[in-house]
Amino acid sequence: MMSLKVSLSMFMTLFGLICIINETNGLDNGLGRTPPMGWNSWNRFNCTIDENLIKQTADALVDYGLRDIGYKYLNIDDCWMGERDEQGYIHASNITFPGGIIALADYTHSKGLLFGIYSDAGYRTCAGRIGSLGFEDVDAITYASWGIDYLKYDNCYNESIPERQRYEIMRDMLNATKRPIFYSICEWGVSQPFLWANEVGNSWRTTGDIHLGWESILDILQQQHKITQYAGPGGWNDPDMLQVGNGNLTIDEQKSHFSLWAALKAPLLLGFDIRYPPTDVLGIVNNTEIIAINQDPLGKSVNIAQSTKRMDVWTGELSDGYVALLFNKAETSITINLNFTAHLNVQGELSIRDLWEHEDKGAYNDSYSREVPKHGIVVLKLTGGTKIKEYPDFIDQYSDAALSEFVIKYGVFVLLLIVIVFQYYIRYFCK
Ligand code: GLA
Repeated sequence: MMSLKVSLSMFMTLFGLICIINETNGLDNGLGRTPPMGWNSWNRFNCTIDENLIKQTADALVDYGLRDIGYKYLNIDDCWMGERDEQGYIHASNITFPGGIIALADYTHSKGLLFGIYSDAGYRTCAGRIGSLGFEDVDAITYASWGIDYLKYDNCYNESIPERQRYEIMRDMLNATKRPIFYSICEWGVSQPFLWANEVGNSWRTTGDIHLGWESILDILQQQHKITQYAGPGGWNDPDMLQVGNGNLTIDEQKSHFSLWAALKAPLLLGFDIRYPPTDVLGIVNNTEIIAINQDPLGKSVNIAQSTKRMDVWTGELSDGYVALLFNKAETSITINLNFTAHLNVQGELSIRDLWEHEDKGAYNDSYSREVPKHGIVVLKLTGGTKIKEYPDFIDQYSDAALSEFVIKYGVFVLLLIVIVFQYYIRYFCK
């Protein structure tokens, strides 16, 4: 018979394993209690960036009032780097950023903004510049000494080292600097970051790159509904930066893109040339009622409550009510009905406000219908009513993500338990 000592030691091993599985150092910067808002250079400018563009963008963020409604981060993406020196310290390109990054960060800070930078958890960035793999310690120290407030960390040239491992190294190095630096994980959703990145970064990309076109927006959107539960204060799903203002999209399409990203609690990072903002585009990105949905302190993402080929109804809870998005994917205008019980889990009378028309629509019982233009959206804030049950539980959309999370966390534990039970079974019943 298996001795008590052996059983005990197996139990201890098991217990130890559970502890290892659950042990994390955790992200330790207190940032991102609501999704970050700001501007990033990539979607509009790719590699054609320099210090004048960044300074002028800082000015524009202030002059057009964008800073004051929340767009605080000014982030340079790929292509700012020059070479490493003999000690391994990275320097900005002396052709495009001759004044150096410290001066630029100082300028940005003097405008009441925060300053972000980009690097890559590989030996090169996606545009082929120098990456941080193997230099995480010096790079984190450098960023902190430059006054960096935000790091977007990409995933090219990664030597096939597992994502989590590489992203955790940089997290630990950033933690060690003691400077709070928003840590934006950009591994394109390849290793299900929503299952682990909450302990590593403040946001994680959920898909590949957004492109300038309606199809790309729909494609990214339809990958979001299974993971909405993972967004919350301190760690956000990131369906990539906004393409609002970059052409190629109608005004209705841009409103839909902006509203859906805001309600999914995505980082709201503008990506157009804000030095010369078209008035209709400014009218979209400065809608403070939509921004308030994104920045709601409850930090819960909307969820898909109904989806057909032609339309989606997305709904969610706010700290002071509910939000519903009636989204028309069809090629003609259609009428979309919001059913309070089926879509919101709420019964009774609800007061409704339209967040694009900036108008109170009155109080309704049971349901509310609206005509929505082609590729357009109606965003409603609803207050009142009584919650029928805990929200949301009307759609079984999480089962596969939840299952893989369970397997990753407890698979070893379950396996060992089976082995032990099997051993006892053999010993006592198969003599
Ligand atoms: C990757 C990222 C993009 C951008 C580019 C820069 O493709 O996903 O967001 O940062 O690299 O090279």
